[in-house]
This record gives sequence, C-alpha cells and structure tokens, in this order.
Amino acid sequence: MKNKTKMKISFGTVTITDMAKRLVADALDSGRISCGKYVRQFEKEFARLAGTKMAVAVSSGTDAVCLALAVLYDFGAKRGDEIIVPALSFVATANAVLQAGFKPVFVDIDRQTLNIDALKIESAITSRTRAVVPVHLMGKPADMDAINSLAKKYRLYVIEDAAEAHGAVYKGKNVGSLGDMAAFSLYVAHIITTGEGGIVTTNKPEFAEVIRSLRSHGRACKCEACVINTNSGYCAKRFSRSDNQDIRFVFERIGFSSKMNELEAAIGIGNLAIYNEILKERRKNLYYLMNKFKKFSPYLVTIKKELYEEIGPHAFPFIIQEQAKFTRNQLAGYLSKKNIDSRTLFSCIPTQCWGFGFLGYKIGDFPHAEYIGNNAIHIGVHQDIGKDGCDYFIDSIEEFLSRNAK
Ligand SMILES: Cc1ncc(COP(=O)(O)O)c(C=O)c1O
Repeated sequence: MKNKTKMKISFGTVTITDMAKRLVADALDSGRISCGKYVRQFEKEFARLAGTKMAVAVSSGTDAVCLALAVLYDFGAKRGDEIIVPALSFVATANAVLQAGFKPVFVDIDRQTLNIDALKIESAITSRTRAVVPVHLMGKPADMDAINSLAKKYRLYVIEDAAEAHGAVYKGKNVGSLGDMAAFSLYVAHIITTGEGGIVTTNKPEFAEVIRSLRSHGRACKCEACVINTNSGYCAKRFSRSDNQDIRFVFERIGFSSKMNELEAAIGIGNLAIYNEILKERRKNLYYLMNKFKKFSPYLVTIKKELYEEIGPHAFPFIIQEQAKFTRNQLAGYLSKKNIDSRTLFSCIPTQCWGFGFLGYKIGDFPHAEYIGNNAIHIGVHQDIGKDGCDYFIDSIEEFLSRNAK
C-alpha cells in the first residue's frame, strides 16, 4: 500500500511507447512529415479496431464531427439544415455543427445515462432535420436502437460522437460502427491518442472519400494514397479532365485544412500497440469505482452498466444528488486538497454556454442537462491510478461525506 499522504490522482496520463519514438524518428529522417504512410497505417489499424471498413484521420475530434457532418452536403443536405444533438456534451459537439454550417437543435438528456433522451428526439424533428448526433458521454453507449429506428423512419443520418467512447460496446457491436459515421477524439485525455487528432470511422467508401477531400480544402483529388506524394510517381488522373485542369487544384466543395501529420500518426500507431492493455486497466478501475460508489447513494451517484454494454473507460462521472447538503465547489475543493484532480461534467450547451445565447434557448428548457451542468464532476480512471489510487479516492469521498452529508 502506498503512503496515502503522498497519493496524487492526476486526471490524465500519456504513455509514449518505444515503438512510437522509433516511428517518430523514422518519419523525421524520411523527410516526409505531412500526411503519408503512417497516417494510412494508423487509419487501417484504427478501422480494424473499431470494426469498420475504413477510417479517415483528421486534426481533432471536433474536426472529425464537423467533417463527418459536412459530408452530408454531398448527399442532399443544405446549409442551415438542422442537426439534433444532446443538450449536455463537451461544447465541441455543438461547435462542430455550427462550424459545418448547420443549425444545432438540442434535446435534453436522460439523467441516469447522461445521454440524449431518445424519447424526446421525435418532437425535435422537422422537415429540415438531416442528422442525429448521439454522444456516448463518458463512454456510456447512447440508446442506439431507438435512435437508429427513428433515423430510419425519418430518413436521417446518424453520426456518433464517440470522442469519449474508445472501447465501448453496444449489444455486441463496437461503438463507432453503429451509425453512418462516427467521430473519435485522439487528444491526450483519450484512450488512444496522437497528441492532438481525430478520426472518422465508416463502412461507406463514398463517405470516406468525401472526408479525404474535405480535410484537404475540398480538392478533387481524394485517393486513399497519393502516388505523387508516395513515390513521385506519375498520376494518370491529374490532367485527365477534359477541361484541361489539374485535379489537385480543382475544389469540388467547401473544405477545411484538417490533415493529420506523420508524427501524430506515429504516436498513434505506438499507442495502438498497447491499447488492449490500457483498456483492460482502465476498465478495471472504472468498474471497481462504480461498484464501490453504490454506498454513497443517496448523496452521490454514478452511471450504471447494462448487461448488453461495455462502457468505454474514459473517466469516472459522479453526480451530487438533491439530498446532499454540500455544493460541487466544496466537494471539488476537498478533492483538490487531497491531490485528486477533477473536472466538472460539462454544461448544458444551449443555456449554460454563453456563446450559444443567440439561438434563443432559456434556462429551464433542459432541466436534466442543466442539473448535470451544475452538479456533476468527473475524475480520471487511467492506467496509472491502479487499485490503491481507486481506494484512496473512495476513502476520501467517505471521509468527506462523514463530515458534510448530513
Ligand atoms: C464528446 C466530445 N466531442 C468532441 C470532442 C472534441 O475532441 P477534440 O478535443 O479532439 O477536438 C470532445 C473532446 O474531448 C468530446 O469530449
């Protein structure tokens, strides 16, 4: 047992493997550091892990959501069309909708799961709705059967925001393979990381092709591997247009500058090599904490695991209930004194994030998302915490409640 007075629980950790260091050095020596062979290798390995036919890497998780949405312009969507998103998420989900040129339409969450309340989606659908973006918040899979059946009924696309859901499983299928496309974040706080980065998974080659164009300014050339860039070879497609244009400088759609580079992909490939090990450790921590936490009801509760799912062990969320006689600031401040790093569990985007005020929502429109926005916290469950760290956290909460609950 570690000396408890010296215990420190950080929110995140990052493991840079020897393999990653070797591949980064190799990329630097090769002279090619922008999107190339390592990005393609990372995409292939990530797709295999997610259980999808393909994956396209981009610069961030936010861009992954944004570009997946922007694909829809090639498939009938118009600028200003509506996209349904949960009222509670990391703000990036809704930022991405606006950045893609759509209007976010918010739906309240289910307070037990922290995810969009599927029963409230139908009344938010209009003739301009094009897609639903369920977020698997804190790695807990959203109610995908209900969402997919509504999407089928109203001919909507489903784009999973799986930023926090690496390793989550829903009814035997991996999260990231449950809709038309899915977006993952590869930022350092996430289970698979490239430092900064994001990736879109899909089973539809026509979507992957458009994302390759979108991430590179909307240009007309969007091959999986560019022969010019790989071996200075001759590209038969380049001047094949009858209008005598170079397809590298034909811009078919409004694009973004959002490629992943070779150094990031190299870190990611090194990370994938230890993914199963990390996932196992993090999941052990998460389920251990979830089990131990039951004794803190009715003051504090966490999410539940259903028999048909595995939760992606991104973090450990907990919610201060109405019965508690303390505030979130008091609890987070106490944890901080104990060297336990915590984060608040986001905000209700339309009513608690000021930038969204122009959409006209008002406090009270999303009671469950607002409650979580005022009363919930999360801490890390990463591979360096271990059982001692989990026990230290549980003991600290116990001590706090014994002094403050009643
Ligand atoms: C639910 C959700 N969506 C999107 C993102 C955006 O990812 P990134 O920070 O890589 O842009 C995050 C980031 O953590 C997230 O939690």
